[in-house]
Amino acid sequence: MCGIVGYLGNRNAAPVLFEGLKKLEYRGYDSAGIAVMERGAFSVVRRAGRVSELGGAVSLGGKCGIGHTRWATHGAPVERNAHPHCYKRFAVVHNGIIENEHLLREECRARGEAFSSDTDSEVIAHLLEQDYEGDLLGALRKTASRLVGSYAVAVLCLDEPDVIALARRASPLVVGVGEGELFAASDVPAIAAAGVRVYALEEGEFALLRREGASFYAADGSPVRKEPVAYDLEDDVPEKKGYRHFMEKEMAEIPLVLSRSASVGELAALAPSLCGVERVQIVACGTAYHSGLCAKRAFEALARVPTEVTVASEYRYGDPIVPPHTLAIAVSQSGETADTLAAAELARGRGALLLAVTNVRYSSLTALADFSLFTQAGREIAVAATKSFNAQLMLLYRLAEALAEAKGKKIHAGALDFIPRLAEEAARAGGKVRGWVPHFLGARAAFFLGRGADYCAALEGSLKLKEISYLPSEGYAAGELKHGTLALVDRTTPVVAVLTDRALAEKTFNAVHETYARGAKVFLVTTLPEYAERDEVVSSVLLPECDPLFSPVLSVLPLQALAYYVSIARGNDPDKPRNLAKSVTVE
Ligand code: F6R
Repeated sequence: MCGIVGYLGNRNAAPVLFEGLKKLEYRGYDSAGIAVMERGAFSVVRRAGRVSELGGAVSLGGKCGIGHTRWATHGAPVERNAHPHCYKRFAVVHNGIIENEHLLREECRARGEAFSSDTDSEVIAHLLEQDYEGDLLGALRKTASRLVGSYAVAVLCLDEPDVIALARRASPLVVGVGEGELFAASDVPAIAAAGVRVYALEEGEFALLRREGASFYAADGSPVRKEPVAYDLEDDVPEKKGYRHFMEKEMAEIPLVLSRSASVGELAALAPSLCGVERVQIVACGTAYHSGLCAKRAFEALARVPTEVTVASEYRYGDPIVPPHTLAIAVSQSGETADTLAAAELARGRGALLLAVTNVRYSSLTALADFSLFTQAGREIAVAATKSFNAQLMLLYRLAEALAEAKGKKIHAGALDFIPRLAEEAARAGGKVRGWVPHFLGARAAFFLGRGADYCAALEGSLKLKEISYLPSEGYAAGELKHGTLALVDRTTPVVAVLTDRALAEKTFNAVHETYARGAKVFLVTTLPEYAERDEVVSSVLLPECDPLFSPVLSVLPLQALAYYVSIARGNDPDKPRNLAKSVTVE
């Protein structure tokens, strides 16, 4: 993860880099730093904590510089591990992981070189110093060839003032060309501005930013011509619009986001390819994995197409069997998740047709896929995924219907059209969870239970709670609890049961009973009024009725809200939970 930026122009670099880093904070926020080059020396400011801690750096002079916001992989999140890392002539910022760092560090140590941080990144500055023979691009190419792993790097060299050298492998990097100024960043929003043309570095490419302009090079050093990528400026202005947190704003947008899914034109283009699909393999991580679990039920119920869902980090190292006529679906809000990309590439390499379901039109995933469907959720800033999850569900449900039609199955089309309106009702009803918060504040752990599609919603509700409130929590299949985990339930345990399928409700309620009998405080998210008032239940959110197959898109709303309110009550920042980042571009 981590975010990197670079600037070369006529303005002071530090304030431009600082603004860019603030827009990249979603990639990591445990420490940050800026280095600028001025009169043959580096001025460096690094701080532990958020980008805002760098406020003092803004007064640095120098028109050429690089910056970094970190999500720690190697070395604790402290100032000496913050980037940029400087060694002799070089200053380096790096996003990625250098897997052979240990060997390289030993090599450098054997030459008598001392390190000042615990990071894998610092080794890049040492290698550059060894490889430099008066040619920055040559040195960077040579150093890159010695690195195993992933990187997007930006480099300054005191011997070549007013030059920023860039390299990319398996971590995103873009270059911006404006009027008399050049930018580099991990992502477009950090450099997007009127009149700035943006160019994306491809795998293995290099670039040099000089006052004369930006030049791009292939891995063998030959020049590369590039076309600018299109981007939407409007999309790139994250504002809270009166809400206290981005997460709150993003949850409020869910009904509108769901209504956009009706107009996914790309689905029609995909339809002819669906006829031959005999099985589906979904790969994803975290919340997107939960979308996959929900989608599996719809694919199998509506289209009767066998569907496997695998956590991407397991799929990529699992030697998966990909039979002919497999549709692989990679689900990823960011389109940049390293494990999802690797799993998707593997599935495609083994013969699957690869479909990307993502929220980012120009992402590494869309570049890899045969087809892409866009969730149209709008930019999601809060680290905890909310609206993108609901949007993924709607899109995958529509895909399930399209697959069913392609397979000649009869479906009751139209049920999904009501979902946006029902989501408004569900969001209103879900406000009641504020009253549940005190029961979670005194708890040591919480449980979320469900069966069928409700189990998938329970998993997501639990992930949301632990992610932003830091309260240990388990999402559990209601019938599985008694096989061990029930031992954890006591009088302090809040249990949230999701109950939207009448055919399964009584069975789920048996499990609820088993927790109630051990003193648990039971809360219900249900579409079934007959359960809402049961004696065992402390409080219920009654949702509007909908097809149980699609119910997670509604039942997750109160669960997202619950996580949000518990997080605030515990004094956390729900937009930036500790140890996490929005875009997980490392393994
Ligand atoms: C949880 C969350 C993460 C992401 C996961 C995958 O709220 O946001 O679990 O879902 O890191 O990210 P994407 O969807 O960008 O591939």
